[in-house]
Amino acid sequence: MTNLSSNYMGLDLKSPLVVSSSPLSRSLDNICRIEDHGAGALVMFSLFEEQILSELSEVENLVESTASITPETSEYFPQSNDYYVTVDRYLELIRTASERVDMPIIGSLNGVTSQGWIEYAELIEEAGAAAIEINIYHFPMNLDITGNEIEQLHLDIVASIREQINIPIAVKLNPYFSAFANIVKQFESYGANGLVLFNRLYQPDFDIETLDVTYDLELSNPHEIRLPLLWISSLFGNVNLSLAATTGIQSSNELIKYLLAGANVGMTASSLLKHGIEYLDTIHNGLINWMESRGFSSVDELRGTMSRDQLKDNPSFGRGSYIKMLTGYDSTY
Ligand SMILES: Cc1cc2nc3c(=O)[nH]c(=O)nc-3n(C[C@H](O)[C@H](O)[C@H](O)COP(=O)(O)O)c2cc1C
Repeated sequence: MTNLSSNYMGLDLKSPLVVSSSPLSRSLDNICRIEDHGAGALVMFSLFEEQILSELSEVENLVESTASITPETSEYFPQSNDYYVTVDRYLELIRTASERVDMPIIGSLNGVTSQGWIEYAELIEEAGAAAIEINIYHFPMNLDITGNEIEQLHLDIVASIREQINIPIAVKLNPYFSAFANIVKQFESYGANGLVLFNRLYQPDFDIETLDVTYDLELSNPHEIRLPLLWISSLFGNVNLSLAATTGIQSSNELIKYLLAGANVGMTASSLLKHGIEYLDTIHNGLINWMESRGFSSVDELRGTMSRDQLKDNPSFGRGSYIKMLTGYDSTY
């Protein structure tokens, strides 16, 4: 019998496959189906700082204060009635879902300043969430703010939330830090329990016919696993944080790769948005078949077997391989 159980930030999950933050968690019916199809845990869609503060009628203040770190005008913020749910309904959904299902429900807060939204972590904990994921989405366009200041902004948010709650905290972040390994170490010392790698940076496109900026959201593809795979493989065994992989899990293959690199869990959203919640079964079956064919009886046994430390005699991660790859490319032209 293949043992899929996995520990994520101290939570015992029956599977390493977790449903990441997305509109799939908007209904209780979906949440129950996600559990029925064997997910290890579910991350709720995010409650946004702007949404919380708009309910507190403080959105104007927020736009002013974030303008110092992210120049932006209020006209681009959705109006409060454009948001999916009120804060109360969000908390109520967590409460009902936590009572109804056995899998851990992870609340998600998404913000950038160290203002009033942070207090909602406590309400999410009280509502019954088993953990909280903080998505710190920040585009560092201010020419006068240094890398150190941006790092401190992230760390202060984690510290403030850590002070308020006892449940585990995962930080979902983008990879654009100049010393990524060091900021990871600092997150750990500020009280984070897990990392979710990586947030996809929103990248608008241009329509060259209409000269409009286009805002379409592209679902991920498997090629996008390379960067999180590299970092998970490099961090595994070197930090005490749990590691969650997000981006590009479209089949069991990507999940297997992330687990081999050292992920505690692999998260998926796009694959289920494309194929439906029952696609969790397909990914699980693929994982089980592969494990059986390779003689792995548990996820713990395979986790990290292809981490950077495990492969230290293999030159694949070094500068030498990089040079060899570039200079060895054989073009037919
Ligand atoms: C339609 C949609 C909505 C999303 N909403 C959120 C959100 O509210 N909060 C969040 O942290 N991530 C959100 N994400 C990002 C996903 O959680 C995930 O990190 C990303 O899609 C990469 O994983 P995937 O390749 O499995 O899609 C959303 C993604 C999609 C496609």
